Amino acid sequence: MSKPNATFVKLALAALMLAAGVSLNWPTSYASQDLPPGKGVELATAKCVTCHEADLIRAQRLTKQGWTREVEKMIRWGASVNDAEKTILVDYFSAHFGPRPTAATNAVSSVERGKSIFEDKCLVCHEIDLTAQQRLTKPGWTREVEKMVRWGASVTDAEKGPLVDYLFATYGPRPLGK
Ligand code: HEC
Ligand code: HEC
Repeated sequence: MSKPNATFVKLALAALMLAAGVSLNWPTSYASQDLPPGKGVELATAKCVTCHEADLIRAQRLTKQGWTREVEKMIRWGASVNDAEKTILVDYFSAHFGPRPTAATNAVSSVERGKSIFEDKCLVCHEIDLTAQQRLTKPGWTREVEKMVRWGASVTDAEKGPLVDYLFATYGPRPLGK
């Protein structure tokens, strides 16, 4: 009995990995199967959506170095892209399919952070109603938080800013006439 053909095994493995990767990263927000419009889209469509669909590309989120490596890999695999085109393609792909921001970096606003500080540090001694009854300006909330710190709330200096932002956004002065 002959051994399984090595190339066949590799291709079968690639197809399996591909199937797994695509189902994990499937971009549900896209309705169309095309690449997004922008500088470089015609080139990308002409050079990169020939051997496979655009889905394979859209499922990726890579840094600029990552896209450079990916394009270079596709060139080794047979894509006919010259150096000038490579630059355009890498710029296009990193602009549209760069890494997603993580929650830790910039997705969480000061007010959101303040909310969790409030829940951790302020609802220890009393219920939310004492706070919710107040309508204070920003300086008013700053004074109130400082008073609570004197009374025993363990709020650090770094937490004070987001906490006051949250309190002011949620329990700021009512507009006149309401
Ligand atoms: C000569 C054929 C060919 C061309 C042209 C081509 N690719 Fe591919 N590409 C492949 C093959 C083969 C795979 C492996 C997946 C598969 O089996 O379909 C792949 C997979 C990919 C993947 C999935 C991740 C990976 O590395 O397996 C991405 C992303 C990708 N290609 C991007 C591109 C980009 C960007 C271009 C244009 C520069 C391009 N491809 C042009 C053949 C090609
Ligand atoms: C160590 C206990 C403690 C912690 C922690 C605490 N408080 Fe208080 N807080 C009190 C006490 C005691 C009162 C007075 C309650 C009363 O009058 O029944 C009070 C009253 C208040 C009042 C009503 C107005 C006032 O000044 O009497 C507000 C508003 C308030 N707290 C907000 C906060 C906020 C915001 C935090 C988080 C920074 C916080 N509290 C954390 C003990 C605490």
